[in-house]
Amino acid sequence: MSSPRILVTGGCGYIGSHTIVDLLESGYEVVSVDNGINSSFDVLDGIEAITGKRVMNIDVDLSETAEAVAAIKEHGPFDGIIHFAALKSVEESVFKPLRYFRNNIGSTLTTMKIMEDLNVPHLIFSSSCTVYGTPENLPVTEDTPMGRAENPYGATKQTGEILYDQYFKNKTGKTGISLRYFNPAGAHPSALIGESPTQKATNLVPVITETAIGLRESLMVFGDDYPSRDGSCIRDYVHVTDLARAHTLAIDHLLKQMNHRPYEVYNLGIGQGVTVLEAIHAFQEATGVNVNYMIGPRRAGDVAAIYADNTRITDQLGWKPEQDIQSIMRSAWAWEKARRK
Ligand code: UD1
Repeated sequence: MSSPRILVTGGCGYIGSHTIVDLLESGYEVVSVDNGINSSFDVLDGIEAITGKRVMNIDVDLSETAEAVAAIKEHGPFDGIIHFAALKSVEESVFKPLRYFRNNIGSTLTTMKIMEDLNVPHLIFSSSCTVYGTPENLPVTEDTPMGRAENPYGATKQTGEILYDQYFKNKTGKTGISLRYFNPAGAHPSALIGESPTQKATNLVPVITETAIGLRESLMVFGDDYPSRDGSCIRDYVHVTDLARAHTLAIDHLLKQMNHRPYEVYNLGIGQGVTVLEAIHAFQEATGVNVNYMIGPRRAGDVAAIYADNTRITDQLGWKPEQDIQSIMRSAWAWEKARRK
């Protein structure tokens, strides 16, 4: 039997590239579609160095539906789509909401058109715990209602989920899963691929590694007056290789028709809250490298604490996170050093 073929949108990005590695190592065939808007095609070399396989990338803008479908059609058929392609800077989305709506929602609509025109039965959507807004109770389960979107980026993830829900509900034979990521971090243990933000990093882990390597003088901890163990915010950091694995399990699940409903959502976090100060200390312990930090004011839009109840994904998809915060920090540091050489 031939290997299932998966179209990975945003395959040259951070989570997309790690997922491609996991898919290839699990026997899938992969085609990437990525226009390099926030990624580098060099990542294809890293994927090849890890897996021994060269992945083809289709360089087209997914928000241009007709052009994208025509370009992708030539390379079908596909058994599934994993849709990562999206802009993800919360800050930028506040200043350029239309850019985010056009790019993120436009590409989401295109994935549905690809499913129609190329008769693709399954899709996995890269969603975010941002859909919960500010949750009232912790940990959050999938039944926690969507909160009011905090920003345009969050609105695009909520919209994606709403559209897919309606699409799959009304399309016999097609199934989909949204994976709601908590805080993805870390890099492949080979240090051949990792996160390469084209803009200045704003997420905590790359900010820590950039500070440790001397690109920044010091890190600002955004607030130490939250109601937490040490006053800093709590998040659920999940290693990108564990996160990648969940996508392979999700597509396996759909291909084997094990889903109970046409469209399912799953939290994707390890279920443990870590404070910002604990994360910094974990980095220092894991690497032996000091990070200068100072305490600053709260960042607008931050929620005090969020972490996952991951019972559903562990029970139904058999996902089991294997990496902890120390391993996240070790791999992120190895990657930071490798990419600055
Ligand atoms: C952010 C987004 C979230 C998005 C995710 C994508 C916001 C409000 N949320 O999550 O919607 O899905 O990125 O990756 O932007 N921190 C510092 N100093 C820093 C950087 C971060 O103290 O220089 C703290 C933050 O206050 C937060 C924690 O570290 O408590 C994690 O921040 P970050 O990595 O930016 O992720 P989120 O804000 O959780």
